[in-house]
Amino acid sequence: MVSDFEVPDRDPYMQRNSRREFAKFVVTSPLWGAPAAAALGSGKLFAEEVAGAAGLDDITNVLQFEDVAHEKLTDELYHFVADGADDGKTVRANREAFDLFQIRARRLVDVSSLDMSTTILNQPMETPILLAPVGGQGQLHEEGELATGRAAAAKKHVMLVSTVSTYSINDVAEAGGGAVWFQLYPSTDRNQTKQLLARAESAGAKVVAVTIDGPGLGNRERENLARRRAGGRHGGQIGNYEGIAARPLIGDSTLTWDYVKWLKDNTDMKVVLKGIVTHEDAHLCVQNGADGLIVSNHGGRQEESNRGTFECLPEIVDEVDGKLPVLIDGGIRRGTDIFKALAIGADGICIGRPYLWGLSAFGEDGVAKVLDILRAELTRIMKFAGTPTLQDIKNSSLMRRS
Ligand code: FNR
Repeated sequence: MVSDFEVPDRDPYMQRNSRREFAKFVVTSPLWGAPAAAALGSGKLFAEEVAGAAGLDDITNVLQFEDVAHEKLTDELYHFVADGADDGKTVRANREAFDLFQIRARRLVDVSSLDMSTTILNQPMETPILLAPVGGQGQLHEEGELATGRAAAAKKHVMLVSTVSTYSINDVAEAGGGAVWFQLYPSTDRNQTKQLLARAESAGAKVVAVTIDGPGLGNRERENLARRRAGGRHGGQIGNYEGIAARPLIGDSTLTWDYVKWLKDNTDMKVVLKGIVTHEDAHLCVQNGADGLIVSNHGGRQEESNRGTFECLPEIVDEVDGKLPVLIDGGIRRGTDIFKALAIGADGICIGRPYLWGLSAFGEDGVAKVLDILRAELTRIMKFAGTPTLQDIKNSSLMRRS
């Protein structure tokens, strides 16, 4: 239940100043005092804390990185990361969907030793937490994907490196030394695509996730306005195209399902489809020989569906019925969100904005802390719920809100 005084978890359309004033009001108002502050319930730092402290040690959950990052980024870059399509309903739905379910905690289970390790597509992982692909990270922090890659490797998480990353997948893999998967944006120029696939393979990637939710560009109005005011398009270098093309050709609105076969014929990497939100398409993934899928709506940045990915997950898990690994991203901010996704049947989860805020605010250390926090939170809820391994996290661990 959202009270009148709850600050929305992240409303990119809410102005910084009004958030500040509101937080100040709640903190200082004798009328509301401590109970009202608690009712904020957003997990965020208060404005005073952001302005005053904002050190890495002050951060206790991943939601808190955003305000610190906001202080450091230009308006254009802040909106580049925060925004969703149209009215931002899908961004909000991604978060709110997790509240549709409650966790059923079991007691008197030996949880003295926890194991959250797993293997997805032959890749052993210490946790089921991966880093979603995000392009242009060099704009958020000078070390961009190199810093992210180092943190991911140090904390032993798989990082998906975007086609449009500032630094090439080879440089990212070399910087961190950890496992990287490649994210591919389709192109009308198949020759460019073949060269990108070869580059990813040479960097050691064993999986390619092809993003299929982009037959066009999402309508992100705030970002577009901020960019226009800043005098034009952001971007900068795209490392993966060095030596391949002076002008990357990205996007192909003619694509159909035979693209999966084309990819499988042109790479040895496992082919994962990123952007599945319906059971019909999950069925087609299986039918067309995909090796895995990611339930994703691009963090609410493409179509304004008003449907959270977590709401899409059950029908997809049902349809796939264990034939393929199913991953999910979108709105995952807490260990309890990860727990819920696993309970519905996801094999792994990806995070996007949390590590981008961490990177923007504190570089590599920020990304590392985001990963530490999520692992600690997942550990905590696994203990509380009486589920010492991932296999113990089942449908029966959840209950739908009535
Ligand atoms: C993205 N995402 C994305 N996806 C992709 O396949 N290739 C890309 O280059 C990008 N770039 C990108 C930039 C920014 C700024 C954001 C916020 C997102 C989508 C990303 O991989 C992932 O699907 C979402 O970020 C997951 O949602 P959350 O965790 O951000 O809510």
